[in-house]
Amino acid sequence: MNTISISRRKFAHLLGAGAAAAFVRPAFSSAKLSEHIGATGGVVRLSANENPYGPSPKALKAMTDSFGLACRYPDEHNNVLIDRLARLNGVNHDQILLGDGSSEILQAKINGAEVVKVPLTPTFAHDLPRMIAAAKGGLIYVCNPNNPTASITPKDQLRDFITNTPRETMILVDEAYFHYADSPEHESVVPLVKDNPNLIVARTFSKVYGMAGLRCGYCVAQKETMERMRPYQMWDSVNIMALAAASASLDDPDQVSTGQRLNSEAKMFVISELATAGYKTIPSQANFIMVDCRRPVVPLIKAMKEQNVHVGRLFPALPNHMRVTIGKKPEMETFVSAFKQVAA
Ligand SMILES: Cc1ncc(COP(=O)(O)O)c(C=O)c1O
Repeated sequence: MNTISISRRKFAHLLGAGAAAAFVRPAFSSAKLSEHIGATGGVVRLSANENPYGPSPKALKAMTDSFGLACRYPDEHNNVLIDRLARLNGVNHDQILLGDGSSEILQAKINGAEVVKVPLTPTFAHDLPRMIAAAKGGLIYVCNPNNPTASITPKDQLRDFITNTPRETMILVDEAYFHYADSPEHESVVPLVKDNPNLIVARTFSKVYGMAGLRCGYCVAQKETMERMRPYQMWDSVNIMALAAASASLDDPDQVSTGQRLNSEAKMFVISELATAGYKTIPSQANFIMVDCRRPVVPLIKAMKEQNVHVGRLFPALPNHMRVTIGKKPEMETFVSAFKQVAA
């Protein structure tokens, strides 16, 4: 069988802006690592929704402490992290599957599969009824909060959608940006896994835990669903450093709350500066914003790059919007001054 496996970057590209997808005949495959350009001196990198504050000090120490284990296969450490995640999510050990980043979970073999993109609603929520209609027994991908719009789909709508979707249609809810959402209209769908065998929820250590370069993510689903995914996974795909860092991060009571606070402060600063300059943003529930530039964004992306400020690529469904990751406050100050200059 001829299969095509797609990287996270290609996956995101496939979905594009303002769209969700329904994959017909879904399956899962092992991941290809995404390419990243390293942060270089002088460049303000606001292009990949990374966490600029990095991993918890406890994670850094755990990695150093695990240097001596680099010659061993990491099976026991897999199990330690799985146990921790099972407790955290209120599920059993066999309901957690680790991945080399959540991308490994998100991979879909699209061998001949029809991919249907469904535009978001005018309030940038997922158009769930249209997604059900399009899925025809395939897989529906719901990113909540959504990338690249940073918007959310209201919790009641999402709950009803999961409850009412026919069981033969799989639903993959990507909660990569879960920790940054503070709206009362947002909630995790992990608690719905117990009653919905067709639900898979993906999480990552790449965002609030600041571990994008380490590659660790996981998903939560019912045991039988896991058994269907496992054969497509690489053996021991999460390395010892990532496992040690992830477990230690969960021990740090400050990592999530500090990350949320710093993100929210820098986000408020940049939104208010942009508003004063006359630019609107889509209400953001994530660690990035979508700025309405009121003109085609591509020349602006290029001009920002010339100022050493890297922002997100073009998302074709929103050709006038610039996706900007929320960096540290001084980085956002640099962004604001470069943006005002190039947009003048
Ligand atoms: C929608 C979405 N899902 C998942 C991820 C995280 O992927 P990974 O866990 O492979 O780093 C990202 C990162 O940019 C993302 O935007």
